Amino acid sequence: MFAGKRVIVTGAASGIGLETARRFIIEGAAVLCADLEGDSLCRAQSVLESAADSGRAGAVSVCPVDVRKAASVDRMFDTAVAEFGGVDILVNSAGVNRVARIEGLTEDQWRQIIEVNLTGVFLCCKRAASLMVPQRLGRIINIASQSGKRGGIGLSAYCASKFGVIGFTQSLARELAEYGVTVNSVCPGVIHTVLWDKLAHEYVGIKGSSPEEVWHNVISGIPMGRAGTAEDVANVILFLASDQASFMTGQAINITGGSEMH
Ligand SMILES: NC(=O)c1ccc[n+]([C@@H]2O[C@H](COP(=O)([O-])OP(=O)(O)OC[C@H]3O[C@@H](n4cnc5c(N)ncnc54)[C@H](O)[C@@H]3O)[C@@H](O)[C@H]2O)c1
Repeated sequence: MFAGKRVIVTGAASGIGLETARRFIIEGAAVLCADLEGDSLCRAQSVLESAADSGRAGAVSVCPVDVRKAASVDRMFDTAVAEFGGVDILVNSAGVNRVARIEGLTEDQWRQIIEVNLTGVFLCCKRAASLMVPQRLGRIINIASQSGKRGGIGLSAYCASKFGVIGFTQSLARELAEYGVTVNSVCPGVIHTVLWDKLAHEYVGIKGSSPEEVWHNVISGIPMGRAGTAEDVANVILFLASDQASFMTGQAINITGGSEMH
């Protein structure tokens, strides 16, 4: 379905980004998989290279990036242009979270969350737009969250960043619509990834007395009675990147098992 398409996925060493990159590769795209330099990126590289070895799969390339830094983002895009000749699809999945009520939330934690989740999306979209506008074609998918639609205890910084991603997405969608570039966000609910494994510990005392109790309480509040998977989110991302979604832009699609409905 994506043969010949050139894709960048950030946050591709783990969770939603890793599954999204794997699916694009299986569907025939050339995918630049970018994440912080380190062991996770090396482990992801072998998973993605084995996906690239199967059937009619596309190509994979791995690139270190820190999405908070413009020079690093520029290097990532330069790599994609050098290796694939351009970029058709950008998926911004790099993200961090930290649970802390306002009295315990430090300025450093606030800046870290805003810089990765919001400034990182801005820097990557700015560079993507500079390539997509001249070619009059492009798809940008930003991973926001259900926390981009309602506040939560201990989530002030994270919610501020994800509300920001949705507003930024809507504005960019209007700016780029005339050039055939669509910009959408997805809003996952509780998705079982490394990010949530960490959160379950941080939520002790707010949502339960142990990580297991936190997890049980969180799941019992989801109408469909289960956590989502990275695959549930990747399915929607691939749809938004496909020709079938060519008349959709500026949307913020919930993938929450019914937890969020607006
Ligand atoms: N898991 C959930 O329940 C959930 C729900 C809603 C939204 N989200 C969002 O989905 C996205 C992916 O989350 P996930 O659950 O797959 O988390 P994850 O922790 O499994 O993966 C996130 C990846 O982002 C990378 N990253 C962090 N800082 C970075 C930086 N400065 N530069 C480049 N990469 C960086 C990490 O190294 C990691 O590999 C995030 O934006 C997250 O906020 C997740």
